[in-house]
Amino acid sequence: MQITPLDVHDQTQVHALFALEQAVHAADAPDDPPPLRDPLVTMLRQEHPDVTVALTSAWVDDELAGYALLAMPTLDNRHLAQVIVRVDPRRRRRGVGSALFEKMVNHAGSQQRTTLISRVTGPVPGGPPRGEAGARFAEAHGFSAALTNTQRRADLAATDETAEQQLLDECLPHAADYEIVTWNGLTPDRSAGGVAYLVNRVVTDAPMGDVDFEETQVDAQRLHAEERNALERGTHLVGAAAVHRPTGEVAAFTRIDVRPPGDHGDIYLTVAHPKHRGHRLGTIVKIEVHRRVRREFPQLRLVHTGNADANAHMVAINDRLGYRPYETSITYQRKLD
Ligand SMILES: CC(C)(COP(=O)(O)OP(=O)(O)OC[C@H]1O[C@@H](n2cnc3c(N)ncnc32)[C@H](O)[C@@H]1OP(=O)(O)O)[C@@H](O)C(=O)NCCC(=O)NCCS
Repeated sequence: MQITPLDVHDQTQVHALFALEQAVHAADAPDDPPPLRDPLVTMLRQEHPDVTVALTSAWVDDELAGYALLAMPTLDNRHLAQVIVRVDPRRRRRGVGSALFEKMVNHAGSQQRTTLISRVTGPVPGGPPRGEAGARFAEAHGFSAALTNTQRRADLAATDETAEQQLLDECLPHAADYEIVTWNGLTPDRSAGGVAYLVNRVVTDAPMGDVDFEETQVDAQRLHAEERNALERGTHLVGAAAVHRPTGEVAAFTRIDVRPPGDHGDIYLTVAHPKHRGHRLGTIVKIEVHRRVRREFPQLRLVHTGNADANAHMVAINDRLGYRPYETSITYQRKLD
């Protein structure tokens, strides 16, 4: 086995990585949307505003047997590194994953990273099957579970519009002082600073279990840089915010990232300003973003979202909006010496 850095500008290597992603998708989560070549290649080649990425590949008999990706935040959380390891299903349990992983641990250590995190998926009752390999592999490498999120998805085509209107009518009297704005594309300049503030609040406000995250330091410029990268990958960004009329403050925000070819979306996040809680703004912005997505992307079916199990309020909102559990996402963590 040869372990070498992966060259994202080498067509052969990139093609092999895409083929591997397809094989992993077919083996591990065929119900997930399949990987797409162009967005994947664009992502691999993008400069990220706030993270450095290292890629390592393992080759056996001149075939790509697996790869690992290490993402290291550069503007905050500089103690952290996130690792992803993927091995060709035909070549598992032969030490490929461990060899890639060790390489990444050493690299993270050489970059003064002291906390490694890695996410794995698990099954929920009634959901599609999910294997145990990721969790067992992480445990075998000294990680322990630090946070469990339940991933949910809603079928927007099955929305009961009468029930949705009823819910909105219940909420709006609590939000008379707020204007709801929606957009498709970059966050409008006048809201970008307020949205960035709310993005940073997520680490402090949403339950993070034992994960060693610090509050992020996103500003309007960094938010827009991250959004431009997503647009370059062919993702559409549909946002909604509640703006407090008397002060102009952005009080709540949500965004659905509609990934190509346009039949799936992900909630990027939903957050309400601590000063403006109790006005049903989380529910209102989510309904408005759903409506805009249904109008502009009628082919979109499933929207995915994830919530910490301890986040009862957000879970209750999602339940009313038709989100149903389909898998867990467990953040594993390991401290480096
Ligand atoms: C998890 C994954 C990377 C493991 O790759 P691998 O090359 O098979 O791993 P290794 O052969 O180095 O396994 C190392 C140890 O992990 C544990 N392990 C790995 N797969 C396991 C499985 N299916 N069941 C139980 N234990 C497992 C074992 O302790 C194993 O040692 P052993 O084979 O001597 O018992 C691979 O299954 C994969 O790509 N899964 C999909 C993506 C994923 O979940 N990645 C992990 C998080 S980013």
